[in-house]
Amino acid sequence: MEKSKRIALARRMIELTELDQPDMGEESWETDIGRFTDPVRFELEKQKLFLELPQLIALSADIPEPGNYYATEIAGRPILLVRGKDGIARAFLNACRHRGVQVAKGCGKAAGFSCPYHAWTYGLDGSLISVPNRAAFEEKQLNGLVELPSAEKGGMILVHPQPDGHLDFDEFFGPMQAYLEDFKIEEYELIHAYRAPARINWKHAVDGGLENYHTPFLHKDTFGRISRNSALSRALLHIPFGSHHALVAPNDAILTLKDLPEDQWPHHCHFTSTNSVFPNTVIGGGFPLPVLFFQRSEPGDKVGECDYVFRLYGKKNASPEERAMQLEGVKLFMQVAVQEDMDVQVNAQIMMEKGIVPTVVFGRREINLTRMHKEYDAVIGHDAEKAVKEVHERMKNYKGNKMAAE
Ligand code: FES
Ligand SMILES: [Fe+2]
Repeated sequence: MEKSKRIALARRMIELTELDQPDMGEESWETDIGRFTDPVRFELEKQKLFLELPQLIALSADIPEPGNYYATEIAGRPILLVRGKDGIARAFLNACRHRGVQVAKGCGKAAGFSCPYHAWTYGLDGSLISVPNRAAFEEKQLNGLVELPSAEKGGMILVHPQPDGHLDFDEFFGPMQAYLEDFKIEEYELIHAYRAPARINWKHAVDGGLENYHTPFLHKDTFGRISRNSALSRALLHIPFGSHHALVAPNDAILTLKDLPEDQWPHHCHFTSTNSVFPNTVIGGGFPLPVLFFQRSEPGDKVGECDYVFRLYGKKNASPEERAMQLEGVKLFMQVAVQEDMDVQVNAQIMMEKGIVPTVVFGRREINLTRMHKEYDAVIGHDAEKAVKEVHERMKNYKGNKMAAE
């Protein structure tokens, strides 16, 4: 992103701090909880938001060298990412062409992949290399792994889960591409990987990165302590980049820029950004924090379950002191994401499933949530206003309910 644009963002945050005014979006939105609990909607989401669109499923650092592989998934569809001998990152359906068994699990380095069932063996480029008793098959029945459209740029790997899907990296990221370049993602290496089933709808995890309204409360002992200037900690910006969204947060040092000539401002301008890439990838951290994180919440088999993927990266060639700081950063991020955030997200999911809450509200300081959820609704064709009206209708005779009294 050009420095002038970063300067404009920094100036806006300094101004909001001085006015002690949080950045407010255009509306406060009451919406239906079906988006977290409705199994019919969930199946539609898996199809429309995940299986029919490109997905940012990994960083280049997940498969840094030729022979590195990483088995992951998109909404239950197993995907194998491999860096070939030619240095190119490729994506395949992780399924043997004999009888469909997954040929790789987890991550690592390999010269090829041998299916555990009957030992059909594939090269790093997905081609079928050897088949025991080859004469037992017709040649035309012997095929390599199904390759998926993929593209790697700026340290990120974009994959379309359909072999004939349309994927255009520049088109997918639009103006966010230039913005993400400032992260220099390609300068990081993986230092911690976490993946575990979580008892939440996948959207709760995305929502956590879309607002900081909760930070001083939920993260009061961790992130909430980082800034002592409360006006500054509220002066975040919510920036849409098409379907993607950035939550831009100033660091305390931003206030030192005010009286400095702009040509002396550092390029980073003392702000960080949590970037939500449609539909469910969140990339955040980075300078001045010692780690960068990559989060994906893969929809599971049920609406209230997902696989929570949280991977942390530190700058390459770190000195022992820098590496120690990166590992401290890992601890902090793990506590924030996997304990603090996850605890309340699970609680919210369960309350919603029990029908304890009739609707949810995204306020003007949570405007990225409203924007993102409206994008989801638009893609799957969901009429949220109608759904909320129906709830209000059901609730109109509830006692003590403000809505009913109006
Ligand atoms: S299923 Fe893979 S070799 Fe038979
Ligand atoms: Fe959080």
